[in-house]
Amino acid sequence: MRLVILESSAEVTEWAARYITKRINDFNPGPDKFFVLGLPTGGTPLGTYKKLVEYHKAGKVSFKYVKTFNMDEYVGIPRNHPQSYHTFMYENFFKHIDIDPVNVHILDGNAEDLQKECDNYEKLIADAGGIELFMGGIGPDGHIAFNEPGSSLVSRTRVKTLNVETIAANARFFGDDLSLVPKQALTVGVGTVMDANEVMVLVTGSHKAYALHMAIEEGVNHMWTVSAFQQHPRTLLLCDEDATLELK
Ligand code: F6R
Repeated sequence: MRLVILESSAEVTEWAARYITKRINDFNPGPDKFFVLGLPTGGTPLGTYKKLVEYHKAGKVSFKYVKTFNMDEYVGIPRNHPQSYHTFMYENFFKHIDIDPVNVHILDGNAEDLQKECDNYEKLIADAGGIELFMGGIGPDGHIAFNEPGSSLVSRTRVKTLNVETIAANARFFGDDLSLVPKQALTVGVGTVMDANEVMVLVTGSHKAYALHMAIEEGVNHMWTVSAFQQHPRTLLLCDEDATLELK
């Protein structure tokens, strides 16, 4: 595991954008060789998406031969809902770059058969040749994607009922009305992310300091699902100074 400590969250997100750019360019993707990138939503990677758009506009990186797979999506809100992860990804990233929409993959939280949708997502990832680089973010409780405390560390893409804390935390995005907050989500599993060739996790802010400590200084533990990546041969953890406050 490689831990990169940077001064600020802005430096973390910029470092991540430079790294993604370098990985794509070194891979030299083409029509017969797509670069497969796993992506998160959330506040943390926003700066990375902004920088990637900037680099794209400056001609430093193209997404023409990139396929993306997002980590998760809510169940039961329309695709064009302002809080859907579809909307988030298109507004903050995809609509500003040269990616072909057929190469964008986001779980469909309105599928008739949700588990079939999840199984098919695993198949799509396998058919794409697996994920080359999975970028992720974590919650203060150490969750990665919607793999909340107690999730199996070998879990695959599946339907997850969100825990009360997550629903309460998300209420701010739904006008503070708990009844409007989705209670379920589709999410890749810890095992799905573990299968990627490389996993890059962004951790910023003092509210995630304890999670970072549990992620790297204690043993692998399904109550801190991000700790599973101690056992991945190529984990890159990017954090800011604030997130290191609980490190020994
Ligand atoms: C995002 C995801 C989550 C977030 C995590 C951190 O698709 O699945 O793991 O990365 O909740 O969210 P932020 O970045 O908003 O603190």
